[in-house]
Amino acid sequence: LTCDRYPVRRLPFAEVSEEDLAFFERIIPGRVSTDPCELKLGNVDWLKMVRGCSKVLLRPKTTEEVSQILRYCNKRNLAVNPQGGNTGMVGGSVPVFDEIILSTALMNQVISFDTMAGILVCQAGCILEQLNQYVEERDFIMPLDLGAKGSCHIGGNVATNAGGLRFLRYGSLHGTVLGLEVVLADGLVLDCLTSLRKDNTGYDLKQLFIGSEGTLGVITAVSILCPRKPKAVNLAFLGCPGFAEVLKTFSTCKGMLGEILSAYEFMDNKCMQLVENHLRLSNPVKENPFYVLIETSGSNAGHDEEKLTNFLEQVMSSGLVTDGTVATDNTKIKMLWALRERITEALSRDGYVYKYDISLPMEKLYDIVLDIRSRLGQSAKSVVGYGHLGDGNLHLNVTANSYSSSLLKAIEPYVYEWTARHHGSISAEHGLGFKKKDFIGYSKTQEAILLMQQIKGTLDPKGILNPYKTLPSSSS
Ligand code: FAD
Ligand code: MLT
Ligand code: ZN
Repeated sequence: LTCDRYPVRRLPFAEVSEEDLAFFERIIPGRVSTDPCELKLGNVDWLKMVRGCSKVLLRPKTTEEVSQILRYCNKRNLAVNPQGGNTGMVGGSVPVFDEIILSTALMNQVISFDTMAGILVCQAGCILEQLNQYVEERDFIMPLDLGAKGSCHIGGNVATNAGGLRFLRYGSLHGTVLGLEVVLADGLVLDCLTSLRKDNTGYDLKQLFIGSEGTLGVITAVSILCPRKPKAVNLAFLGCPGFAEVLKTFSTCKGMLGEILSAYEFMDNKCMQLVENHLRLSNPVKENPFYVLIETSGSNAGHDEEKLTNFLEQVMSSGLVTDGTVATDNTKIKMLWALRERITEALSRDGYVYKYDISLPMEKLYDIVLDIRSRLGQSAKSVVGYGHLGDGNLHLNVTANSYSSSLLKAIEPYVYEWTARHHGSISAEHGLGFKKKDFIGYSKTQEAILLMQQIKGTLDPKGILNPYKTLPSSSS
């Protein structure tokens, strides 16, 4: 399957032997799985598009265990695929051939939480939603949130430099991650797990691992800065008559809600139809070509409500918004967020998904959706646009009844060329993984790619960590 769709050759790594299994069993007794059912889950990605054939899955609990495993694999020339919650969107989290799956599922302990500074230190396998609950009980929140929160691990979030729904307010993990502990390919433990806000002593090595998709080292622990839990959260779900109005509403919103704005997401009406049809969710407002979801988070409920009311009066009276609903209670807030967060799930139920995650200048953001829709005509089932508009990040998705190479050829490299022509990024937040690695040249220069390859060669000379991912195949 994989070889048909993605021509790739297995590199000359060793194959796992009985002696290897016995060695792993000695280091992590009872946590070496060769069970076909468990391996079936670990071998296929969330989108069910990339499938490997690994024969062993390891579940270490400590950094020392990860170190011993990698030291051994490096010596034996065994390839390793680090895996967190396996919710990645670009096929980076699953083996391509028989790489050993190194799962962080049992590395799920909180190490410390500083209630004064809001700094959380935890193992890489902690689930994002559970961490959020943990810090909420202490009056803080995690600086990131995404639809996969119930499954994804903080280590996986850092490894992909996940963006998500709070990026607009709290920024990138490159800013909120204060420290990392990483095990390098040869087993060396790199301790950069500081909790300092300021530390300009030499190169900031941790930044190399944020977004490195498991190709440079295995992240074993994370130190992260958490914002205070807002006292008041308001959510507005609004219908807009056109994309120009979506943009003008954003601009108005920045001006009128400024410091309390915590999310500005958009979805088109085709997305709404998909969540209605496949998930039985209902549209809370009048049907419109576009919908926006605006969240405010602040410290004074009365003050925030007044600001939001003034803003809503302004956008409704000027015709930027034709209908809307507002939520302040948790149940309704969750219900409205589901309309946006569950689009990914609805798309998967619609058929085979061609997924694009691009950064573009905001005013061009929807042009590419219209362009692709007319280019593909009847050959596509749905062509939809949604995403983190406030961050200039579009999710362009195309579905079809089944995979078709001619449809793929009609979309790629056209989408990438279009994006590069407008100086965008061909992967805004999902990374390159296995599926997008050969398109890196549309967003990075040859010099930058060469330096990346040199860094990879220095940190992982045998290339055992997540081979076939992120960097282009040497032939391309
Ligand atoms: P995995 O999928 O297991 O792994 C992802 C990559 O990281 C792989 O290359 C893997 O090898 C590597 N990796 C994992 N753990 C480690 C580790 N400890 N050390 C080194 N490498 C490691 N992404 C966004 O940016 N924004 C979103 O809003 C968003 N929403 C999503 C919604 C849904 C419903 C889904 C299914 C996915 C979404 N994603 C989003 C994709 C996103 O990349 C992941 O959800 C998340 O960040 C990956 O975490 P994970 O633990 O599942 O990692
Ligand atoms: C999202 O924003 O919903 C995620 O990045 C997942 C997706 O692109 O479908
Ligand atoms: Zn996203």
